[in-house]
Amino acid sequence: MALDPALLSEVLAGLDAAPRTLPAKLFYDEEGCRLFAAITELPEYYLTRTERALLAAEAGAIAAALPADASLVEYGASSEDKALVLLDALAAAGRTARCYVPIDIAAPALTALTARLATRRPGLVVAPLAADFLAPIALPSGASPPRVGFFPGSTIGNLEPTAARAFLAQARATLGPASRFLIGVDLRKDPARLLAAYDDAAGVTAAFNRNLLVRLNREAGADFDPAAFTHEARWNEAEGRIEMHLVSRRAQQVRVAGVTLRFSEGDSIHTENCYKHSLEGFVALAMAAGWEAPRMWTDAGATFALYLLAPSGGG
Ligand code: AVJ
Repeated sequence: MALDPALLSEVLAGLDAAPRTLPAKLFYDEEGCRLFAAITELPEYYLTRTERALLAAEAGAIAAALPADASLVEYGASSEDKALVLLDALAAAGRTARCYVPIDIAAPALTALTARLATRRPGLVVAPLAADFLAPIALPSGASPPRVGFFPGSTIGNLEPTAARAFLAQARATLGPASRFLIGVDLRKDPARLLAAYDDAAGVTAAFNRNLLVRLNREAGADFDPAAFTHEARWNEAEGRIEMHLVSRRAQQVRVAGVTLRFSEGDSIHTENCYKHSLEGFVALAMAAGWEAPRMWTDAGATFALYLLAPSGGG
């Protein structure tokens, strides 16, 4: 299978830039989805289990703040588990959702998710959308208002502040005036804990990072030697983000789609940013994008936060 042309041009532009970058959405081929699922089970990767516990504990309060008969639109739906917690809480509150729209860039994973839901919740109307949600999207026709957006997992942390603001403004336009938007956000904390979460002892995150090169070899006619690149997680204090890099172990040349890239020892490809927001910083970001933050829930250690946003100016 070859990389889709739009993604290939993003890849080539990023590899030509200084510093070199790759787009984070490139992680999620089938092997990348499998490795990310393994990451969520790692002892060091506190994000998924903290958010899951927070959601389970607060689902009733969250459901009580959501409209009845809503279309639940999930951005970046790699697993249905979190949405089911919300959908069940809505049903328990007598506010059963009318449909569930999982959106994800990984079409095979989305097909598997939809098939599982047919068994797990046979009565649920599911309208999957395989799309890059950073681009403007057209929702399926059944996804009528009121709409509840759901963006768990701190995936918003992948976006630089300018892109995050643009995404939030676009989601506000997509979801409409009477919507709500529930967003999971990983918070600032001790850098040592962050670094461990992105450089685990078992090496699963390293394999996830190197899988980008394996994918480019297969889908972009590249000849990377993945073992010639070291996985590195760095905390960038000034930007408030974890960065993932692949660092060349030696001087080497690599071909990608007919282009020759030259690496010196120590040259890096910057593969991901994971912004860690402060409680107030995220509110400011949301407000700059046309949302208000009427509610926020966090765990006892203020590790992770769930924000429930409403469009500013009523609705
Ligand atoms: C799926 C973007 C939320 O940033 O923590 C996990 C991806 N990268 N380990 C994150 C990821 C390395 C993850 N998100």
